Parts: sequence; structure tokens; C-alpha cells
Amino acid sequence: MTDTVTTLLAEIADIGTDPHRGGYSRPVYSDAEHQLREWFIGHAANRGLDVQTDRNGVLWAWDGTPGPGAIVTGSHLDSVPGGGAFDGPLGVASALIAFDQLTARGVTGRPRAIAVFPEEEGSRFGRACLGSQLMTGALAPERALALTDGDGTTFAEACAAAGLDPAHVGADPDSLARIGTFVELHVEQGRGLIDLGEPVAVASSILGHGRWRISIHGEGNHAGATLMADRRDPMVAAGKLVVAVQAIARETPEARATVGRLEPVPGGTNVIASRVDVWLDVRHPEDVVVHAVVERIRQAACALAAEEGCEASVTEESYSPTVDFDARLRDDLVTVLGGAPVLGTGAGHDAGVLKEHVRTAMLFVRNPTGVSHAPNEHVEAADAEAGAAALADSLEFLITR
Ligand code: GLV
Ligand code: MN
Ligand code: MN
Repeated sequence: MTDTVTTLLAEIADIGTDPHRGGYSRPVYSDAEHQLREWFIGHAANRGLDVQTDRNGVLWAWDGTPGPGAIVTGSHLDSVPGGGAFDGPLGVASALIAFDQLTARGVTGRPRAIAVFPEEEGSRFGRACLGSQLMTGALAPERALALTDGDGTTFAEACAAAGLDPAHVGADPDSLARIGTFVELHVEQGRGLIDLGEPVAVASSILGHGRWRISIHGEGNHAGATLMADRRDPMVAAGKLVVAVQAIARETPEARATVGRLEPVPGGTNVIASRVDVWLDVRHPEDVVVHAVVERIRQAACALAAEEGCEASVTEESYSPTVDFDARLRDDLVTVLGGAPVLGTGAGHDAGVLKEHVRTAMLFVRNPTGVSHAPNEHVEAADAEAGAAALADSLEFLITR
């Protein structure tokens, strides 16, 4: 049977399902993500592609001798906790099908490869696009290796367990220099293509976005023995802060601010927390506005913590500046794809990290629910195949021109 995007994704439909949260939890270097990597390696090898894992855990599948100026496509296989089936794997499966189509068409020219990046979501070690940030040197290896997951495992330990040498993690100019152009296909994480009635779009931009950890320190104590008047409860300050975050974002046109994770320490039902970590995600088309919103939130956090006899501190965990994709490449792909629409996105991608270093483009495939980072994320079979065909057309244009 000939593979399609739909049959490839059906093969991995049972890997990393999360009975507790729903959807998929496929953190980097977990059993589930390793199974997905093996699935990809198997399909790449069946196609005669030369598969290598580089020192940052990026999987490369080469058609032809790796060399400078290569046309590279790909995405990621890790997921957010309880995520959908398409964010990441759609781009990987579409890359395999697009390569099949290039082979069937007898397309030759520049070398081509599929790249699969680890820890795009930052759901295990907290830092999004960790693999591409290491490769490009945007993230220092010492900082990455010291990151810990929820169980206290360091990224260095996870790399070693995955067969990587932590001493060799870090900037990889050789890998980067081989990429002439990178094109990432991704499920659309919004409603743009629904509204336009189109299956595929070309990306224009990515919002500036970052993650901040707001730690509110109070006094741990007994839930029954501590009078309400005697408490310094950081959870109360955290609750007020969540409401303030919403208000500040709503007052700022085009801003998005989210508290998606609260971590009380120690986290017992009958325990007043001694500390709460409030994880904040802020995004806006202008970097300066992102930072202004975060500053307002920082001030609110300090004031609200003080109201409860607590103290707040804010740490920037990561920041990805606004991305405008290469306009000439974007326009070329619009033409190749017969006048496909152009859409911006609020979601971060490895393509956004690579854009600082190589010519980069993205294609989005219609998501009929408009929902992403949740189990409802969806792509219809016909749109998935249209996306792979659009990717093949784009790659053929780049390989042969
Ligand atoms: C990743 O998908 C992000 O936008 O955070
Ligand atoms: Mn993604
Ligand atoms: Mn995502």
C-alpha cells in the first residue's frame, strides 16, 4: 500500500496517548517520543534516506550527499501535555510524503533532507525550540544542560540517557551551514484558513513571545491550625495575579497573556503553600510591547504579593523575538502554490529560530476546529494530502531553480 499523510499518522495514533489529560503527551526523550523517532527512522530508511542523529539530538534524513545549500523540511515529534495529533507530526509525515512525490517526479538538483527537532514545545525542560536554539547557538549549552524536568532530571542526564554526549551539545555551525533553505509545514493553530475557505497558506510572521516564571514566596503552614488573619498565602496572591494578567492583556490591543501552569510548593490539599510558581506566556506583534506588558505584570505581581504578606520575583526563562519570514521566498511560494493566502501566526516554531540564520518559510494546513495544543486539534485527510502536495511543489521549486 502506498503511504499517505493519513496512513503515516494512523501508524502513530496509539503512541503517547494520555488517558489522564486526553490527547497526547510526548515529551522529548520519553518512551513515546523515542518510539516516534524510531517510526520516523524506519520510514526514512525504507525510502533509502541516510539517517543521522546530530550532537543536539536533531534527526536528519538525507537524500543525496549532505552538503551546503540543501533544501530542508521537517518539524518536531514532541508534544505539549495533552496535545493534539498534528502539531509537529503533521510536518514530519508530510515531509516523508513530499519526498515520495519528489522521487516519483524524478526531481533532482540540490541535496535535500528532512530534519526532526527535539523539545520544540519545551514541555519537558521548559525551554521551547531547545534543539534549534542549541544548534544555532541562541542558547548556551551550559544553560541548557542544567535545565531540569518535573522529576529533577537534568537535560544533561536526559541527553546521556538518549545516547548523546552532553559534552558535545551546543552550537553546530556545520549542520546549520548545510541548510540552504528550510521549509516547515505545520497545522494551522487558528482559524485563518477556515475563514478563507482554503486548505493551505504561506506564513508571513510569528508573534514575539516568551516565558516568565513568577515566584511568589509566602509562609508554609497548616490548613486547619492557621487562622485566616495569620496567613501569608502565596496561592491567594497567585489567584489575584491570574486575574490581573487577563486584565492587563485585554487593555493591550493584540496582546495575548496566559498563565497555563501554577506550581504550588509543596502542593498538599491541607497545606498552605510556601511558594507558588506562576508560569506566564506573553505574545504580541511588537517585542517592545511584550516587554511592556511583562513589566506591568511584574509590578502587579509585586503589589498583589505584598497585599498577602508575600514577595514576588520574576525570571525570564526564554524569549523569541518577532519573526518576519523572508518576503521574497514567501512571495515565490505563493506563486508556486497558485496564489495561496498568506497568514501570520501566534505560535512559535523551529522555523522561527532558523530564520535568523537561513532562508526560511512555513506552510500552514487548515485546522477545521481552529483549536491547537489540545486534543481537538484536527486536519481533514484531504487537506493533509493537499498540504503534502503543496510542500512537494515548494521543495521542487527550491531544489530545481
Ligand atoms: C509552541 O507551539 C508555542 O507556540 O509555544
Ligand atoms: Mn509545533
Ligand atoms: Mn506547539
